[in-house]
Amino acid sequence: MVTSIDDAKRMAIASKLADMKEIQELLISNEQSLMAACNDEDIRKRLSDMLQDDQKNMGILETVMVQYGVKGEPKSTTQQMVKMTRELMQGSELSLYEKFVQHELLKHGQTMSGLLIHKAAQVVGADIEAAITPLNTVNFENRAHQEQLKGVLEVLGVRELTGKEADQGIWARVQDAMAAITGVAGSVVSRTDDEMNIQDVIRMDHQKVNLLFGQIEGTDDPQKIQEYFGQIYKDLNVHSQAEEQIVYPAVRSFYGENDTQELYDEQAEMKVLMDSIKSMSPASPEFKQQVNRLKDIVMDHVRQEESTMFAAIRNNCSDEQKEQLATQFKAAKSQLQEQFVAKG
Ligand SMILES: [Fe+2]
Ligand SMILES: [Fe+2]
Repeated sequence: MVTSIDDAKRMAIASKLADMKEIQELLISNEQSLMAACNDEDIRKRLSDMLQDDQKNMGILETVMVQYGVKGEPKSTTQQMVKMTRELMQGSELSLYEKFVQHELLKHGQTMSGLLIHKAAQVVGADIEAAITPLNTVNFENRAHQEQLKGVLEVLGVRELTGKEADQGIWARVQDAMAAITGVAGSVVSRTDDEMNIQDVIRMDHQKVNLLFGQIEGTDDPQKIQEYFGQIYKDLNVHSQAEEQIVYPAVRSFYGENDTQELYDEQAEMKVLMDSIKSMSPASPEFKQQVNRLKDIVMDHVRQEESTMFAAIRNNCSDEQKEQLATQFKAAKSQLQEQFVAKG
């Protein structure tokens, strides 16, 4: 029996993440066109802050998709809906108030998608929860944006209907609502640093694979074992190749020829072992034995990277170089994941 590397639940979450990215692009372009159409200074300032958050959150979403490790396509209905909404938002049929209503609905949907992915991850596996942690920031900010938009709707709606200004307590109420969200979410929402360095990104991958090994150890259900191993197979292949493309060549000069070569050799050994496990039946006792062997090799390798290689990076690279390496590493992973999908 050949282990399939795709799992329906994991693919469904990947597709939801891809939907979120489509919607995020639409949110950004809406905010740009709404700003151009609106003369109210106060509302423009709020939109401009929201736009800044949304552009930053686009980067976080992309990071989450790469960490998640399964590439998905947005649903065709999502793409159609985005196209239709974009036309409506740029057209002249809707009043400004009505355009903000559309925008608020999209924000609501985006908040719910983020929360839904979070809840689904809790059901499917700890490795997914680890991969999507940065999404917490996006969810939290979307929730706050919704409150802001409710305030905007009240101001614009009263103005359009009556030609008069709405009661002045609106923004104070919005402020209170946002404080309440912060109070509730404050302890569970971790604001992630947008500028992760290369050690942070590599460490996140290592923690995820460690969790996956733990998940295999904790189950005897062949289907679950197959699902978790499928994810390990994908993640480890992509992670190792991205290290060989970006990280190892960059550290070779100061980490040393021998130590760097050792890392390449260990990864070659992992690859052979992974391919041999992939051709075995996940129901056989041998499968788990070999996975344990793989775990030992991987964890030895991880310890070397996180101790001596990380120390060499810390001592020889500027903060800017470390962040640049992280960006290149994530881009390489994203590309490798696409090749993986193409190969099937
Ligand atoms: Fe490695
Ligand atoms: Fe690594």
